[in-house]
Amino acid sequence: MRVVSGIQPTGNLHLGNYLGAIRNWVRLQDEVVAASQEGSQCLFFLADLHAISMPYNPEDLRAGTLEMTAALVACGIDPDKSVLFNQAQVPAHAELQWLLSGTARMGWLNRMTQFKDKSGQNREGASIALFTYPVLQAADVLLYQATHVPVGEDQKQHLELARDIAQKFNNDFCADGAPVFTLPDPIVPREAARIMSLRDGMSKMSKSDPSERSRINLSDDADTIMKAVKKAKSDAEPLPSEQAGLAGRPEALNLVTIYAAMTGETIDQVLATYGGEGFGRFKPALGEVLVETLSPISQRFNELKQDRESLDAILARGAAKARELGGKTLNSAYEALGL
Ligand code: ADP
Ligand code: NA
Repeated sequence: MRVVSGIQPTGNLHLGNYLGAIRNWVRLQDEVVAASQEGSQCLFFLADLHAISMPYNPEDLRAGTLEMTAALVACGIDPDKSVLFNQAQVPAHAELQWLLSGTARMGWLNRMTQFKDKSGQNREGASIALFTYPVLQAADVLLYQATHVPVGEDQKQHLELARDIAQKFNNDFCADGAPVFTLPDPIVPREAARIMSLRDGMSKMSKSDPSERSRINLSDDADTIMKAVKKAKSDAEPLPSEQAGLAGRPEALNLVTIYAAMTGETIDQVLATYGGEGFGRFKPALGEVLVETLSPISQRFNELKQDRESLDAILARGAAKARELGGKTLNSAYEALGL
């Protein structure tokens, strides 16, 4: 089993990023390590090459790459168990993208709905990278003979494309020998909690929300977390004893959802304990649950963010390992193409 997955290297990370994305990677790593089959491996990469397909600021990208690396390690991605790296340090990603561009068809890419969504009204002004980045995504996973790729709803179409490219390449260029590429299967990530703003319970918790009150940041210390929970918008009603009773109470639903996501309980299990209680009791309990998990993470995160040398070393080691793992496939692809 070889799992390959990428993440956008953004900064200002918050509880939504942790519960919605980063924690799933940690669980995946731990499952693959626990299965401990010969050759099983998780490769996790920061998609910095993808980031240049949209308008962006180079300084922010560099900072975001380092910050996301620090967050991943602080949250439990272990560079001794998984291969953690950024794409830009492994030239084989860009090389293989070009090699696969001879196989990918215009018609296939024209069908990608994400390009239409992201380019919006301005298709003529979109970068070529935005149009072809599904081919880079194909290279990202095919390079490592990925067997399994975690994909959300919005990425299913791109994984299908990767499979089509791999199949056509194998058919067109490997008739007399072994196929160069493995066709990866999707794994549907376990359902991730969607965390809403603490300000209103209705908009997504996001770094782009200007209100500090809306978020719990991965860099927040225990005191700051307790204060943020205390200030979170709630209502004057006691909690109901079942989830149905939270209808029409978005702030309450969000706070209970966060509690459930942190402890692994269902919403009904949380309400079995706290039904009938007001927020005067529930908020301190929620604060404690958050602090217990997040304060060791934030401590490590804040230390690592300052430690450029360690971060560079982690990424350099991951990139070296990735180059080694991808080298054979890249060579086979060149050879199959007569290059
Ligand atoms: P932001 O919304 O702060 O800009 P990103 O869009 O960079 O965050 O998201 C990075 C990852 O974190 C994505 O996988 C996204 O689905 C996840 N994520 C972001 N915000 C939330 C949230 N509020 N709840 C759950 N997951 C989230
Ligand atoms: Na966003």
